[in-house]
Amino acid sequence: MKKKLVVLTGAGISAESGMSTFRDSGGLWEQHRVEDVATPEGYERNPQLVTEFYNSLRMKLPDLEPNQGHRLLAMLEDRFEVTVVTQNVDNLHERAGSSHVIHLHGELTKVTSSWNPNNPKYIKELQPDEYEVHVGDLAADGSQFRPFIVWFGEAVPEIEKAISYCEQADVFLIIGTSLNVYPAAGLLNYVPWGVPVYLIDPNNVAVSSARNVHVIQKGASEGMKEFVRLMEEG
Ligand code: OAD
Repeated sequence: MKKKLVVLTGAGISAESGMSTFRDSGGLWEQHRVEDVATPEGYERNPQLVTEFYNSLRMKLPDLEPNQGHRLLAMLEDRFEVTVVTQNVDNLHERAGSSHVIHLHGELTKVTSSWNPNNPKYIKELQPDEYEVHVGDLAADGSQFRPFIVWFGEAVPEIEKAISYCEQADVFLIIGTSLNVYPAAGLLNYVPWGVPVYLIDPNNVAVSSARNVHVIQKGASEGMKEFVRLMEEG
């Protein structure tokens, strides 16, 4: 039986593909106010601004390629049963070949009902020629289509599923997240004691846990090369 590898990823794994991170200098939250573009109140105040913000991120997707970090992670499915729990809303894990991805914060390529955002009946996968969404585009229940994104202050419907995978992990890996946003940042607490924990990030990340974390202080691609080497040795 293959061992279970659970991987928590954040914006840093997509940085080498050209996606902006949020909190690094020059990151998205330096250019936009979180309250304006990533809260239900911001959307209510100015749906046009929020729609345009996510349109601009979504329309970048076709020009981005998964990087070696995403690809090596997908290749690990040969050796492990891999579950990727990502905070990212891009589709680069899937495009690199990862077959089991849990998106905690939603997906840019989807829109949903603004009345019933989590009802699968109203979630629509957009084709690339539909990536520019307009105020006035309606979901099947007659409400305005909103981005399928989990905004600050909203529940994270996928968290229970993510927790149960963390509880079963044989190896846990964290890549490219500042661990600032909960509940994602708390997932490490569900990983059983004794399970090896690795963290790939070029910068120092404060891990609020007493456990031993094997830090690989590198970018995602180089860090993943080292992680693969360590798994081959171990
Ligand atoms: P952050 O921007 O907070 O953190 C990005 C992390 O990536 C930092 O620790 C960087 O050091 C690291 N990093 C930068 N370049 C890297 C590289 N080449 N390789 C690997 N790591 C690199 O992004 P997240 O932690 O993902 O939520 O942010 C979490 C959530 O906050 C996001 O999902 C988003 C945001 O607000 C919502 O919008 C709901």
